[in-house]
Amino acid sequence: MKVLGLETSCDETGLAIYDSELNGGKGGVLAQVLYSQIELHATYGGVVPELASRDHIRKLVPLFDELLDKAGVDKHDIDAVAYTKGPGLIGALMTGALFGRTLAYGLGVPAIGVHHMEGHLLAPLLGADDVAFPFVCLLVSGGHTMLVRADGVGRYEHLGESIDDAAGECFDKTAKMLGLPYPGGPNVAKLAATGDKHAYELPRPMLHKGLDFSFSGMKTAVHNLIKDTPNSDSDPKVRADIAASFQYAVVDTLVKKCVRALKQTGLKRLVIAGGVSANSELRAALESELAKMGAQVHYAPPELCTDNGAMIAYAGFCRLQAGQQDDLSVACVPRWDL
Ligand code: KG4
Ligand code: ZN
Repeated sequence: MKVLGLETSCDETGLAIYDSELNGGKGGVLAQVLYSQIELHATYGGVVPELASRDHIRKLVPLFDELLDKAGVDKHDIDAVAYTKGPGLIGALMTGALFGRTLAYGLGVPAIGVHHMEGHLLAPLLGADDVAFPFVCLLVSGGHTMLVRADGVGRYEHLGESIDDAAGECFDKTAKMLGLPYPGGPNVAKLAATGDKHAYELPRPMLHKGLDFSFSGMKTAVHNLIKDTPNSDSDPKVRADIAASFQYAVVDTLVKKCVRALKQTGLKRLVIAGGVSANSELRAALESELAKMGAQVHYAPPELCTDNGAMIAYAGFCRLQAGQQDDLSVACVPRWDL
């Protein structure tokens, strides 16, 4: 079965074809294309919703053609279309939803609206044979930070979440304060690689309490640290130390909450997903901490951690396998709980 996936919830136009017959029936990505609008929004310091929608509209058809070319298939070989139904920017969501729903109608195949965070959650399972339900999932993206117990496709129990900012947002704001370009996460991580993570002590809000997170205090602490530290705008060593200390504070918080969630649920398997799960410090810290308790951590390759069409195609495939059928309406939900 070949499922086309369309991701247009924010500033990436991602298209991919998931083929369940690849890799001896384990399934895999037949082809994918991704267009990032980073440059378009760079001058504004953040995503401008109206510009995002217009650009998705401009890119969807040419990217679809490019995808078919890359995959070496005809559009009539597509068995189903999955699109991101929410959460996200309403105008941006509508472009992918309308394109996907209309294409499916024309081809006479089913269309499925997918939850963006379910796409992230299932991405580490794509083509993998060493990850299985049940597991605890840490979802860490630009808009969300949450812990979920996953017992199967669509069977998710909410364990905790950020009461204010998301971890990715905190990376992006820190990058901005350090004068690094958007998206901040990878740039902060790069700068942090040469710094000393013990150079500055940053707070870890709500560390010893429950499974919720709070990152807004950390953002303020980074702001004050930059303001109060001489040469924080010019000395490469000082800047790297600030980045490393910040990253350590976030990673330490995420790791401790994951360990607590595993203990609370009695599970021995953790899946991390979303843009921040591409962070190599986070991966390494979880690997070593979880090994101590006989648990394992699983994650997707970096290109499947950040927004992409393949995760939507795969989530659509899983939903179809579970018997979901959507009607002919074009459905978009800008705010939507998992
Ligand atoms: O999942 P995603 O692509 O989009 C949303 O659904 O939000 O996540 C984007 C977020 C951004 O905040 C970005 O700075 C962060 O993920 N990110 C990272 C890294 N790569 C992306 N944060 C830390 N380290 C990284 N290597
Ligand atoms: Zn995302």
